[in-house]
Amino acid sequence: MTTNNYTKKREGIGSLFHDIETSSYTWKPIKLDMEYELFYTGRQAFKFILDTISETHAIEKIWMPSYYCQHVTRWIKKVYNNLHFYDINPFEFDKVLDLYEFASKNDVVLINNYWGLSDTVIKKSDLPIIIEDHSHGWLTRNCLHSNADYCFTSLRKTLPIPLGGISWKPNSKFNNSKHDFKQDIHFYEVFDRLHDAMKHKNSYKNGSTNVSKEDFLKVIEETEDFLDVNHEIISLRPQDIKLFDTFLNYDFLSHKHENLNIVYKQLNRPDFMRIVQRDQHVAFGLLVLFKEERLWASLKNHLISNDIYPSFLWPDNKPVSDWQYVLNIHVDFRYNASDMEYISNTINEWIQMNTKH
Ligand SMILES: Cc1ncc(COP(=O)(O)O)c(C=O)c1O
Repeated sequence: MTTNNYTKKREGIGSLFHDIETSSYTWKPIKLDMEYELFYTGRQAFKFILDTISETHAIEKIWMPSYYCQHVTRWIKKVYNNLHFYDINPFEFDKVLDLYEFASKNDVVLINNYWGLSDTVIKKSDLPIIIEDHSHGWLTRNCLHSNADYCFTSLRKTLPIPLGGISWKPNSKFNNSKHDFKQDIHFYEVFDRLHDAMKHKNSYKNGSTNVSKEDFLKVIEETEDFLDVNHEIISLRPQDIKLFDTFLNYDFLSHKHENLNIVYKQLNRPDFMRIVQRDQHVAFGLLVLFKEERLWASLKNHLISNDIYPSFLWPDNKPVSDWQYVLNIHVDFRYNASDMEYISNTINEWIQMNTKH
């Protein structure tokens, strides 16, 4: 045990959200000043935008960032076959992306808000059409004040819901709500199964001996496989809209901000490890970068053996710099200052073991 007086969480730190009773948390309310459309996934929200654009423009090329979530790229390729790629370094935040170097007026460009830290300066012009993905930066300044033509977010990365997506048109609204979305009993069953897994995680967290970790963890994988092959936009059930709307009214970013400030102060910074952070911005999580895969794997194993479960953001991408191995540690509303201290101590302990004396 690395931290005195810290009681480890039975469910560990990270992975799937547990089912939440909002009354157990004191979250800051927030009023979203945008007209939006809700979906079951970020992918469907993205497809909806592309379908909307296609109604009035023949899209010649869809430009995707070369460094991106490979699941989404693969999925979009199935529904739009005109994907092209532009190079980008997701850890360089000050560089202006010059869209006009590669895109022309009948194209669409997807820009990603990397780790919630990008504020891509988008050159003002009517075309090409720009879509921005804020899945890792929900409620960041760039998300709320984007000057893209369209935006979307995968909500399940931030809100404690099984699945969810949102699209909006900054400073405007969609005028094509006539879309016929599909009802799909099988999709609803998958959603409910994942929701049950979140409920099981909650019981496990609260000490139930009738549930094992495997019961809820295996459902995550099954759901990912299903999402990969489902290419329709599914119409939302009223109870799910209600669920999403409940959580859209809370400021989940400020909690992360407080947690990150604690962990940033407590962490040691050896030269073989980098923390991805940026002044005046709030990152998606505690993002740790390595040049060496060996050190990345060693910290990952150390974290897991201490019940901290990091996520691996996009290991299948081509390396864009020497610092290419990323671990993301969750610092969201589920965690408090003593959890942050536990995370910092666990990492500092590993740093010490890996520092030559
Ligand atoms: C940056 C980013 N955008 C979009 C998505 C797709 O979201 P969803 O899984 O809700 O379709 C993901 C991951 O799944 C992602 O990492």
